[in-house]
Amino acid sequence: MQTFGDFQLDTVNECVWQGSKRLSITPRPFAVLRYLVENPQRLVTHDELLEALWPETYVQPQILRTYVLELRKLLGDDPASPQYIATIPKRGYRFLASVKQDSINSDDEHLLIGRDTELALLHAQLDHARKAERPTLFLTGEAGIGKTAIIDTFCAQFCDGKSPVRIARGQSIEGFSGKETLYPVREALNGLCSAEDARARTVLTNAAPGWFGHGGSVAPSLGEICEALEALSQNEPLLIVFEDIHWADATTLDLIAALARRRARAKIMLLASFCPTDLDPKSPLRLLQLDLARGRRVEELHLGPLDRTAVSEYIRRKLHADNLPAGFDSLILQHSSGNPLFLGAMLDHLRSQHVLRSQGGEVVLNCPLAEIDVGVPEGLLGIIELQLDRLSAEDRRLLEAGSIAGTIFPVWAASAALQRTIDDTEEAYASLARCNRLLSVGGHDELPNGVRSTFYVFAHELYREVLYKNIPVSRRSKWHQNVADQLRTLFAGNEASVAHEIAAHTQASVSSR
Ligand SMILES: Nc1ncnc2c1ncn2[C@@H]1O[C@H](COP(=O)(O)OP(=O)(O)O)[C@@H](O)[C@H]1O
Ligand SMILES: [Mg+2]
Repeated sequence: MQTFGDFQLDTVNECVWQGSKRLSITPRPFAVLRYLVENPQRLVTHDELLEALWPETYVQPQILRTYVLELRKLLGDDPASPQYIATIPKRGYRFLASVKQDSINSDDEHLLIGRDTELALLHAQLDHARKAERPTLFLTGEAGIGKTAIIDTFCAQFCDGKSPVRIARGQSIEGFSGKETLYPVREALNGLCSAEDARARTVLTNAAPGWFGHGGSVAPSLGEICEALEALSQNEPLLIVFEDIHWADATTLDLIAALARRRARAKIMLLASFCPTDLDPKSPLRLLQLDLARGRRVEELHLGPLDRTAVSEYIRRKLHADNLPAGFDSLILQHSSGNPLFLGAMLDHLRSQHVLRSQGGEVVLNCPLAEIDVGVPEGLLGIIELQLDRLSAEDRRLLEAGSIAGTIFPVWAASAALQRTIDDTEEAYASLARCNRLLSVGGHDELPNGVRSTFYVFAHELYREVLYKNIPVSRRSKWHQNVADQLRTLFAGNEASVAHEIAAHTQASVSSR
């Protein structure tokens, strides 16, 4: 939902809310309002509006005047001194009010509450690295507890350049390129090379010409990677982060073991995160964890739930409120178990149900506290399903198509799954990401045929997981097949470079049948 002034635009129910009051509005004026709200503070011409909203139908331009008249009545806007919709004579309209994406998690990108002790511990480990003691730390905790958030904050603290620390960060991803050998390692080293860091580029190109030179795609040996990283850490400390190694391939785990066990002094801090509940007791990662713990080669930092003070602060920060109704924080803590992802989803849910709103620094409840828990599911997955249920059918389908390709996915893959043109799909995702916090832009890629394709990232891998799981199997199979076919077409003549992905999609297509 988007907020402007006292109003909220509800694109799912196609209506406008004023506080807890629902204002009805007919479809065409609603479409005009939605377009203006999504394109605020600029001239939107009559032609643009008509072309965007009714490209196939002839709509008389004069009719726009009637719609805008209706909207002004609805919003109580005075055309002589408008607050919301200004008429630009003979040309079109401009939406004047500032529009805020009414989402719980998209603001305050690096907001980190209640983790001072844990951050201090990370800094203490980095001090050991400065003394060349090469500490290794496992950061553990359930999905959504804040592993990525604390790593983001920790890394961001070195961006000011005051205490130079090189950061190499890679993530194991679940899904269809997930088990590619050394995927997170390559990502981390790539990050070092692409930064403006000539020394890192030289060292890594010499150590791994197969990856970074012109030598083809031969992976360096683990020893070569360790030596290169040690060479890079000679002056400034090197922080190596591997996230979500419960999804890592065996060779990445071997590299982590080697880095943790090597005796040579080096200013390296190795930080690896994972979710211990997903681990089989006999999994290679569990065995590695036990083995390193026995030899005292690793420390573990376990992230637990946020406590009541932190939950209270979290709610106040997210809802921009100074005060909360008595007992509200305890209720939210009890239902969310202090998991920040759950907390965010729950506040989103309560707000979308108009159970609460923030008003002048206060959180106002629209029903008694005792009735609030009605309908809020117990587990994290339950509340995520509820969030996804609120999507329109079109938006849900777009997200499902993305989930076929991964937590980070390119539009071309989704467009292949859906059998829609890339341009059309790009537009659909752009508009989805503008109004929906489940997705954000991750970057751009250029395909071998010269077409540029945007990458999107799910706000959390659990969204992808729930979406993916709920796609009917026959459709899932077909979509994987479509993506595999598209990979073959796009990379014709160079299929070897994407052989792993083609195989993974083909395999997923077969096993979904
Ligand atoms: N301590 C915190 N304070 C505020 N927000 C947090 C905190 N920890 C996590 N979050 C938010 O909760 C969500 C889930 O956190 P994330 O770091 O992605 O979890 P994990 O990596 O452990 O699965 C993210 O939107 C994140 O910004
Ligand atoms: Mg994470």
